[in-house]
Amino acid sequence: MEQKGIMLSGIKPSGELTLGSYLGAIKNWAERADQFECYYFMADLHAITVRQKPADLRRRTLEQLAQYIACGLDPERNTLFIQSHVPQHAELGWVLNCYAMFGELSRMTQFKDKSAKNADNINGGLFTYPSLMAADILLYQPDYVPVGEDQKQHVELTRTIARRFNNLYGEVFKMPEPYVPKVGARIMSLTDPTSKMSKSEDADTGRVCLMDRPEDIMRAFKRAVTDSENTIRFDRENKPGISNLMTIYSAATGRSYEEITREFDGRGYGVFKTAVGESVVELLRPIREQSERLLADKGYLESVYRAGAEKAGHIANKTLRKVYKKVGFVAR
Ligand code: TYM
Repeated sequence: MEQKGIMLSGIKPSGELTLGSYLGAIKNWAERADQFECYYFMADLHAITVRQKPADLRRRTLEQLAQYIACGLDPERNTLFIQSHVPQHAELGWVLNCYAMFGELSRMTQFKDKSAKNADNINGGLFTYPSLMAADILLYQPDYVPVGEDQKQHVELTRTIARRFNNLYGEVFKMPEPYVPKVGARIMSLTDPTSKMSKSEDADTGRVCLMDRPEDIMRAFKRAVTDSENTIRFDRENKPGISNLMTIYSAATGRSYEEITREFDGRGYGVFKTAVGESVVELLRPIREQSERLLADKGYLESVYRAGAEKAGHIANKTLRKVYKKVGFVAR
């Protein structure tokens, strides 16, 4: 039998999952579950690089698991686990820290952005975060890492670290490829279409969360910032608001930008915003309903993350042992 390729990705439970996390990442994971052996996790170790309220972090981690399943990741066919349950992530993260250069880590866009936003808490974890992410990835030797545009740079640094390690010790790590979707890789805030829709954004109006009620989703789209031209055409530079809405509508309905322009020719922005809002309500409705059902069954969720950690730990351990041997640690 032909061996399946491997796919892996994660999301930080540092805020409610948004339409951006869904269209940029999870939707593409679920669509490829059949073709690959898949590992998806809740990146709780990454979440604490920014201060979290412990009770919220715990709640969101479980909610995120329920949402993964509700988005179509069947736990029978995908390994779903909590990052901190597999200690090999932190262990390999340390080793890879010693193969990631200060200059490389300093150049990461996300580090620069997050340090500017959290000037009172620029901790070591925030700085070395990409080495931990490299460990998350390399432990499982994946072929593809499906992520949104903003995480591509971290996957590229993972390749640099892996290459450096392999050059020193032989072929230990497989080279992973970032897999970035053609439509939806960068969903922008509805109120400020020049900045990314983010989980942890303070102002609630610019984002849509997977668990939002239909009326809140419609309100968010009605308030979406557009421009004064009143024609619906894709032009990210000059029409960032309308282009963002077109991206969302395209990802939700499968229609191309040309089809959308034709569909709304001569119709106003109000009509378009309502149509985009409705498409998102219908896209998210089954996910919210299924997540709520799953969250009522904590025993089931626990069985899923336990089995996931066991399976993931087995694979992760194999890679870690190989790495420890290569760098010269005495076997236990
Ligand atoms: P995180 O938690 O910030 O985001 C999770 C995933 O969602 C994508 N994404 C978006 N895509 C499109 N538009 C948006 N507005 C948007 N916002 C978020 C992100 O690109 C990402 O794919 N460091 C990672 C988590 C992580 C990881 C890993 C990912 C930890 N270890 C190993 C892959 C492999 C992060 O903070 O993503």
